[in-house]
Amino acid sequence: MTSIWLDRADTFTTDPFEPGSSYDTVVAGAGLTGLVTALLLARSGQKVLVLEARFPGAVTTGNTTAKVSLLQGTFLSQLARQYSQKQVQAYVDGNREGQAWLLRYLDENGVPYQRRDAYTYAASPQGTEKLREEVSAGTTAGLDMEYVRDAGLPFAVHGAVRLADQAQINPVEVLDVLVSDIRRRGGSIVGGVRLQDVTGSGPATVHTARGDVTANEVVLATGTPVLDRGLYFAKLTPSRSYAAALQLQEDQEPPPGMYLSVEQPTHSLRDYEADGRRLLLVGGHGHHVGRARSEKHHLGSLLDWAVQHYPGAVATHTWSAQDYLPTNLMPFFGKFPRGKGHIYFGTGYNKWGMTNAVAAAVGISADILGGNVPWADTIHHRVTAPSGALSAVALNAGVAARLASGWGQVAAQGLRKDREDQAAGPAPVVPAEGEGKVYREGPKPVAVSTVAGTTCKLSAVCTHLGGILHWNDSELTWDCPLHGSRFSSDGKLLEGPATKDLPAAGKV
Ligand SMILES: Cc1cc2nc3c(=O)[nH]c(=O)nc-3n(C[C@H](O)[C@H](O)[C@H](O)COP(=O)(O)OP(=O)(O)OC[C@H]3O[C@@H](n4cnc5c(N)ncnc54)[C@H](O)[C@@H]3O)c2cc1C
Ligand code: FES
Repeated sequence: MTSIWLDRADTFTTDPFEPGSSYDTVVAGAGLTGLVTALLLARSGQKVLVLEARFPGAVTTGNTTAKVSLLQGTFLSQLARQYSQKQVQAYVDGNREGQAWLLRYLDENGVPYQRRDAYTYAASPQGTEKLREEVSAGTTAGLDMEYVRDAGLPFAVHGAVRLADQAQINPVEVLDVLVSDIRRRGGSIVGGVRLQDVTGSGPATVHTARGDVTANEVVLATGTPVLDRGLYFAKLTPSRSYAAALQLQEDQEPPPGMYLSVEQPTHSLRDYEADGRRLLLVGGHGHHVGRARSEKHHLGSLLDWAVQHYPGAVATHTWSAQDYLPTNLMPFFGKFPRGKGHIYFGTGYNKWGMTNAVAAAVGISADILGGNVPWADTIHHRVTAPSGALSAVALNAGVAARLASGWGQVAAQGLRKDREDQAAGPAPVVPAEGEGKVYREGPKPVAVSTVAGTTCKLSAVCTHLGGILHWNDSELTWDCPLHGSRFSSDGKLLEGPATKDLPAAGKV
């Protein structure tokens, strides 16, 4: 499933990887966080290397819906319930700076984007209370939010919050320009090389399967951080959601703004013009990675919802992607714990990374270069409210039941309904096309799937910390229900905190 942004000829060529070379900063990850950070550092004269495990935009940035908005559902009122006004204001200031930086950069580089009013709408009377709280939190933080009755949608709503003059982008066009700009300023961008570890300091050694390089500073812009020392995987919920581009009937038009529902499952809408056609993009129906009964069903429900409101609409692209939600809501960025002051990171953007990734990049580059960013300091000094700590406990409860060590017992007792696909006992027959099964071979959980006529047998144990993998029947991948690592049907690591592929488990 390829997103509308990534459905194009492959344009990226990698710079050569030179083991043994030294850099001021190595940035791991060529999504929006990594590339903006690398550009800000290269602009200041640093020698920068971006190491990208796959290719720029391969993971979340190339699969986003790309609204660049300060109205973010009802996020500000949720934040206000947990943080002081000063901290909420710091979040808004950071996002405002992220949005302004990005749009100014696009203007300077001739990259098109569209101005749109942003709406959060309530499809039920109960949702309107949340809208009023959002208007209150937003206006207190200086955003010109207003409560409106009509949002311009083709279905009835009970009310909406509007914030005028926000923006939407094609995220991959933005990454293309960043890549060229970084190279023009002497930076290198290497694709297909994964950071596996960082050791030492002054300088640090960055380890990869292709050899080591050294750097004074290292930035982990890898979505969720790939080093475990800060235990961030336990403070982040990996949440996957679905998206589609739809060709509408002649007499239909996409709605004029950018939208997100208050209700669950969420529904997101925006438009996109491609080859003279105005397409409707929809998104939503998210769930914790690896914990859905059927991912295909989530995508199907999103498409059913879209066609119910736009009869006759035909999907041209469908895709899915994941982002990381911090248990205490506030994004994380800055110095990485136990990195001896030389490792930095940015994560936990709550599906609002178009502004938060840029804010994190501004904060990280100021830390490295010695600048002073007041909103970043305020966010760094936040205190996790008790409710955030409780969410972390809830998130980690049940983790043991999904670990390899307890798997045999759990599968045998059938303790978890969503794990029914994991039958203990003898090997099943070769799975049908598009299907995958986990079964027990002696003490070992084994994953077998058939995709495009090829049956693969792999270890079913996640290479991160031993979660038992789940078959994603939409993407045809093995997904980890613990911290969101994902692997292709032949075991290649796709994303998440793991750094190694799945080993084969012998012949089928
Ligand atoms: C469905 C969906 C819709 C969204 N819609 C919006 C929206 O409308 N507006 C908005 O503001 N936000 C939205 N978001 C959120 C936003 O897209 C993300 O927050 C943002 O793209 C994250 O950028 P990133 O650079 O941190 O991560 P990524 O884009 O995932 O980049 C991380 C990169 O690191 C690489 N990598 C990983 N491990 C390693 C390693 N060990 N070594 C080297 N490289 C590595 C990966 O291959 C990847 O390319 C959405 C998210 C989702 C899932
Ligand atoms: S992602 Fe952590 S155990 Fe799989």
